[in-house]
Amino acid sequence: MKIGNINPRWFMFSVLFLFMCLSHESHVCFAVDTISTNQSLSGNQTIVSAGGVFELGFFRPGNSSNYYIGTWYKKVSRFTPVWVANREKPVHDIYSSVLKIYDGNLVLFNESRVPIWSTNVSSGPAISSSVVAVLLDDGNLVLRDGLNSISSTILWQSFDHPTDTWLPGSKLRFNKRTNQSQRIISWRSHDDPAPGLFSFEIDPAETNQVSLVWNRSQFYWFSGAWDPQTMSFSLVPEMRMASLSNSTYNFSYFSEENESYFLYYFYNSSTTAKLFMDVSGQLQQMSWLEDMEQWMVQFSQPRQQCGVYALCGAFGSCNEISLSFCNCLTGFQPASQQNWNQQVYSDGCVRKTKLRCSDAGVDVGTGDRFLESRNTIFPTHPQNMMAVSSLECKSTCLKNCSCTAYAFENNQCSIWIGDLLNLQQLGQDDTIGKVLYIKLTADSESSSKNKKKVIVIAIAVSTGLLLLGLMMFIIMKLRRRTIIGPELGKGSLVAFGYKDLQKTTKNFSEKIGKGGFGSVFKGTLPDRSVVAVKKLEGINQGEKQFRTEVRTIGKINHVNLVRLRGFCYEGSRKLLVYDFMPKGSLDRHLFRAKDSEPLDWKTRYQIALGAARGLAYLHDNCVDSIIHCDIKPENILLDVDNCPKLSDFGLAKLLGREFSRVLTTMRGTVGYLAPEWISGVAITPKADVYSFGMMLLELVSGKRNFEPTNDKEGGTFFPVWAARQVTEGVCVLKLLDSRLNGNADLEEVSRICKVACWCIQDNEIHRPSMSQVVQILEGFFDVSLPPMPRFLGEIINDRSTDFSSPI
Ligand SMILES: *[C@@H]1O[C@H](CO)[C@@H](O)[C@H](O)[C@H]1NC(C)=O
Ligand SMILES: *[C@@H]1O[C@H](CO)[C@@H](O)[C@H](O)[C@H]1NC(C)=O
Ligand SMILES: *[C@@H]1O[C@H](CO)[C@@H](O)[C@H](O)[C@H]1NC(C)=O
Ligand SMILES: *[C@@H]1O[C@H](CO)[C@@H](O)[C@H](O)[C@H]1NC(C)=O
Ligand SMILES: *[C@@H]1O[C@H](CO)[C@@H](O)[C@H](O)[C@H]1NC(C)=O
Ligand SMILES: *[C@@H]1O[C@H](CO)[C@@H](O)[C@H](O)[C@H]1NC(C)=O
Ligand SMILES: *[C@@H]1O[C@H](CO)[C@@H](O)[C@H](O)[C@H]1NC(C)=O
Ligand SMILES: *[C@@H]1O[C@H](CO)[C@@H](O)[C@H](O)[C@H]1NC(C)=O
Ligand SMILES: *[C@@H]1O[C@H](CO)[C@@H](O)[C@H](O)[C@H]1NC(C)=O
Ligand SMILES: *[C@@H]1O[C@H](CO)[C@@H](O)[C@H](O)[C@H]1NC(C)=O
Ligand SMILES: *[C@@H]1O[C@H](CO)[C@@H](O)[C@H](O)[C@H]1NC(C)=O
Ligand SMILES: *[C@@H]1O[C@H](CO)[C@@H](O)[C@H](O)[C@H]1NC(C)=O
Repeated sequence: MKIGNINPRWFMFSVLFLFMCLSHESHVCFAVDTISTNQSLSGNQTIVSAGGVFELGFFRPGNSSNYYIGTWYKKVSRFTPVWVANREKPVHDIYSSVLKIYDGNLVLFNESRVPIWSTNVSSGPAISSSVVAVLLDDGNLVLRDGLNSISSTILWQSFDHPTDTWLPGSKLRFNKRTNQSQRIISWRSHDDPAPGLFSFEIDPAETNQVSLVWNRSQFYWFSGAWDPQTMSFSLVPEMRMASLSNSTYNFSYFSEENESYFLYYFYNSSTTAKLFMDVSGQLQQMSWLEDMEQWMVQFSQPRQQCGVYALCGAFGSCNEISLSFCNCLTGFQPASQQNWNQQVYSDGCVRKTKLRCSDAGVDVGTGDRFLESRNTIFPTHPQNMMAVSSLECKSTCLKNCSCTAYAFENNQCSIWIGDLLNLQQLGQDDTIGKVLYIKLTADSESSSKNKKKVIVIAIAVSTGLLLLGLMMFIIMKLRRRTIIGPELGKGSLVAFGYKDLQKTTKNFSEKIGKGGFGSVFKGTLPDRSVVAVKKLEGINQGEKQFRTEVRTIGKINHVNLVRLRGFCYEGSRKLLVYDFMPKGSLDRHLFRAKDSEPLDWKTRYQIALGAARGLAYLHDNCVDSIIHCDIKPENILLDVDNCPKLSDFGLAKLLGREFSRVLTTMRGTVGYLAPEWISGVAITPKADVYSFGMMLLELVSGKRNFEPTNDKEGGTFFPVWAARQVTEGVCVLKLLDSRLNGNADLEEVSRICKVACWCIQDNEIHRPSMSQVVQILEGFFDVSLPPMPRFLGEIINDRSTDFSSPI
């Protein structure tokens, strides 16, 4: 058949159609945005909104074998559902389940042709024969009269029935007639969209604020009242910046006769971002970064993961120190190991051994003991008891079988009945923790009665382990060969075996640091060179991607960047091996050298310049510009000659989502985060420039930015005060570390302060690039007086903003 015989229009259409269908891997598409009366959707068919933004069809979340009808972003390469129809009633066979218009409604029929989900609206018989369902470009699925598409009223819309995501353009409502709030409810786990424990809603008591609620009843976070003047919530100062500059989103509140609601949208309609209730109990705003092909968390509330009510469930303990937030108390184990592995902790923990107390016939209290838990924040709902001594308090708890813990503090006896919720374990340097005694069975682990059994088991287990070890050994040998093989000779990056690194670090015995990404250990390679081995925690990245990223990092070579020597990837073990920097990180010398000599001015200036050069290299001279994302004194290491070297570059991409989680949850980091991290625009190298500016101020002052100044200024956020001094052209020697006694080049201090102030401008367009910063610091360029950064300026008027806490 010649092409000439084919109607060219039809030909174009079919090519287009084919193209559209090929562009999505797993779904044969309908190439329409509508399900009309006589159509149905089944199997791998989908509909796509007119502008190709959203797609609707059957999907299977994570590893689940269940299928759901839902909508997701069509253009986002990481599958992200935003709405689910049949949250609680999955289907298993998508080819015999259908979604269709039936009797004026959109109805999902399962394998047995039973309707399991419906839009469930009644429309008059006149309309019901022409009803259509249309997926719009804002993600709204609308049911309306198909005959009159423009003026027809909406019969039903998915925006009125959100699941865990609040999309731009949809209303978050409070119905004044019924006093009911619309709830946005988290998924139960990453692969179960059924309603979970955490929800987000307008506070029924104060309808101009939103709150987070646990199990529909326990409120655990409040936004504070909506302030129409600043277009932000009183307890979310981050929003003020975005609202002030009118640059990203427009968030507004409406109070009408029958309802009040919040509404937001992005000025740039190509912004892909969403607010949603995460399974972790945090309200998060995420933006899709096309370049990095991942979602970045830009805002999460409560800011501290442990601030989520009952995050770790019953008998779980929460901590902000390690990457896994929840642990079971000693003597307890996760109720669901599977969920626990997926970082969904709300099922909590169960006893490994039942309390003796509940056994009939056992004398009350004889079989149980208490485990001392130091430095804890107490669980919620204690009951105060009359007791004059710790001993009496203990016996009160022993006598009552429902008592699970006691504490005796300040002559006050408290006991806990039933599940322990919200227990928090603090780090060693926190001093506000108290001692809690948790009831356990006396024989939970080592009972003489069971000794024989234990021995038998021990023999069996050790034999098993031996065999297993032997097998592992053989497997590792094989694996290592395959891993090291292709890597050698290809540049200088070495693929280490885990065992080698174990030996190198003397079984990880000398810990030299701990950051958000894991612990760092000192080691010595066979060639005597000293290395720092970083054990990465909490990455679930595939080997291929990991190696690609690591290879990119490995190719980077600059005198102001810490050299990556090699890596290890064995199953869950992922390590990076760097050159060792004997003097450690800059923060140690700036803030912690109370007893030793403070860094002199010349050294500080060289550190600023070197760090700027390293960063400029990352931004400009690498094949793909690398955004560091985490510039702070902790990530600037010093070699023997005090030459600064940036560390942890490239990890943002390597760690993906985990990285942004770390960024938003780690203490203190927020002081370095550029406003665009919280306002929702794409992150560019200018975000690093901002953090660099913040760090410069610390370098000059020798103090943490968030430490209150000793000034009369009354604990103002230091950068605000500093920026004001600089913009007003006041003598900048005031900003200089007092330990230097004014021993500094005034010209240089002034230059560095002005650059810092330019770097922390709200609008990234006003910030210099890193190569400009280098040139200014080198003295090639003069720098004019910067304007006051507006966002910081706002904070000055708001003493309630507490930057000393990790917001
Ligand atoms: C979609 O389903 C059809 C059968 O209904 C099947 O032939 C086709 O391979 C499926 N496509 C994909 C990508 O699974
Ligand atoms: C649907 O099919 C019925 C009968 O098969 C037909 O009468 C009706 O016009 C069709 N409706 C539409 C909207 O195509
Ligand atoms: C799915 O299961 C595999 C193997 O059990 C596991 O490695 C993977 O992390 C799981 N993925 C999710 C999203 O749970
Ligand atoms: C379809 O749904 C009905 C009602 O929920 C249920 O009884 C039936 O078992 C389901 N069919 C299949 C094949 O799951
Ligand atoms: C539709 O709504 C009615 C009451 O409003 C309810 O009884 C019925 O179960 C609902 N049907 C479905 C499929 O949700
Ligand atoms: C809703 O709450 C208001 C004030 O709290 C009260 O006056 C009103 O009666 C309530 N309405 C309903 C339907 O509960
Ligand atoms: C949530 O509340 C319901 C009652 O409203 C209760 O039955 C259920 O046990 C609670 N869930 C948890 C995890 O405490
Ligand atoms: C932001 O928008 C408001 C209202 O439209 C306007 O009054 C204000 O001047 C704008 N601010 C900026 C910085 O553009
Ligand atoms: C923001 O949205 C509100 C309501 O939709 C509108 O009145 C206001 O003018 C918008 N502000 C800007 C700056 O577009
Ligand atoms: C509020 O509800 C009443 C009764 O349903 C209705 O008459 C009125 O028009 C509604 N007001 C608005 C602004 O929609
Ligand atoms: C909107 O966002 C896109 C993608 O992030 C960007 O390319 C475009 O320049 C932006 N448009 C405006 C007007 O800022
Ligand atoms: C245990 O203590 C609780 C709270 O004081 C009390 O309600 C309960 O009755 C006591 N149980 C027993 C068996 O004494």
